[in-house]
Amino acid sequence: MTVNHAKQKKPDPCAFVIFGVTGDLAHRLVVPALYNLAANDLLPDHFCIVGIARKAMSSEELNASLMKGLHQFATRKVDDAIARRLLACVTCIEADPADPASFDAMRERLDEIEAIRKTGGNRLFYLATPPSGFLPISRELGRTGMLTENGSWRRLVVEKPFGTDLASAQALNRELLDLVGEHQIYRIDHYLGKETVQNILVLRFANGMFEPIWNRNHIDHIQITVDERLGVGHRGSFYDATGALRDMVPNHLFQLLSLVAMEPPTKFDAHSVRSEKANVLAAIQTQTAAEALQNSVRGQYRAGKVGDTEIDDYRKTRDVRPGSTTETYTALKLTIDNWRWAGVPFYLRTGKALGIKRTEIAIKFKQAPFAMFRDTPVDRLSQNFLIISTEPTEGITLQFNTKVPGPAIDIDGVEMKFLYKDYFKVEPSTGYETLIYDCMIGDNILFQRADSVEAGWRAVQPFLDAWRNAGGKGLKVYEPGSEGPEEANDLMERDGRSWRKLG
Ligand code: BG6
Repeated sequence: MTVNHAKQKKPDPCAFVIFGVTGDLAHRLVVPALYNLAANDLLPDHFCIVGIARKAMSSEELNASLMKGLHQFATRKVDDAIARRLLACVTCIEADPADPASFDAMRERLDEIEAIRKTGGNRLFYLATPPSGFLPISRELGRTGMLTENGSWRRLVVEKPFGTDLASAQALNRELLDLVGEHQIYRIDHYLGKETVQNILVLRFANGMFEPIWNRNHIDHIQITVDERLGVGHRGSFYDATGALRDMVPNHLFQLLSLVAMEPPTKFDAHSVRSEKANVLAAIQTQTAAEALQNSVRGQYRAGKVGDTEIDDYRKTRDVRPGSTTETYTALKLTIDNWRWAGVPFYLRTGKALGIKRTEIAIKFKQAPFAMFRDTPVDRLSQNFLIISTEPTEGITLQFNTKVPGPAIDIDGVEMKFLYKDYFKVEPSTGYETLIYDCMIGDNILFQRADSVEAGWRAVQPFLDAWRNAGGKGLKVYEPGSEGPEEANDLMERDGRSWRKLG
């Protein structure tokens, strides 16, 4: 994420090595993002893609499969010449961490490819594999010396989920940091590739007017919502072991929370920004078991419809245990123990098979302090919200009260709305372009540091523990196409507040 208006520079020559190249992530997102970078002339002059597959596959076969994926998932019309040039540099290497000799052979093969492609020894290892692959692959890369930086750079891109709880995330960090330096690890969260998410920093810190009111004196509470229409679909096995909380909260929702709640960094560099984000996550109050149960709601969808689409009962989804108590919806109330946010609750909710796809941060300002308008008491005034949304549209909305034209003082709520698409012509993207480009130029501002990942897990651990101990007790059910379980409303209503309505 660079701050300037000059033409973006091209990254250093490098080899882009993709583990799990035959999988969904590589076909659906990584290669289409590389294509978009190529179309914008933002790939290095000397560049090659090396796909690592566990089963034998020729480079031609891999090339054909990636080309097919590109045509299926590209976010813009594919220019065949650019696509052919990009994929002409694809080589497939067979390697399996269970077979150390294959990594020794891979090392030699990579050296040869790099000599031909003149990529100068810089290597980006993208772990587009299930999490079970992260450590075995990294260990083999370490053992063979492929992670050693010796006049060239070596970087490791690690996808989510990064651990499944605090202890496993700490163990994963420890093991990775035995193999590489923190500056070499790029823990990716695709929410940080979204324009509106990056814009939170600019909105807060490139404008003078928000910061003075961005605190407990003026803000009543903050709601963060990530609602999805899709059910779990074919991801039953992963999802049933994971659930909505682990899948979305310590990563995506906490990225939104930390950007909106962090203190102003002293500099716009990776160290300062990431330190402030980690600080605010570390300030989330640790809840006791009783508080965690009281301040959370978990739900699971049953059979029904979202729009015209039939959704199966979650427990009848393929690869989901019939008596599963895994949550497909969660709502939480959190508080942040610092001077800025003391007494300002943060309400978070996310779920599958809901009525609308919506991602937003809604900041609710305090009401006007006294009822000056005779017939409209302050509590009947519309609420003042600043809403930062990425779905269904990217933009920012300010809701405030205004006078209805006419002789009487009638007051109604209105909106001032900024939509990205009205101001900027941007080609649709996968959301991975900025992140991949940043990895190649060595800018890790948009990547999670070990301490933030751990602070995130530390904040959700009480909920995981309390739910595990409660078993199925406390799991609520909800209808697909709804706003989630009724009990999520109680979470706010008992504080005299309410969620913003869907749609
Ligand atoms: C992924 C989760 O990380 O994010 C999915 O594993 C979820 O379950 C997805 O659907 C949501 O991403 P987005 O960009 O569609 O909000």
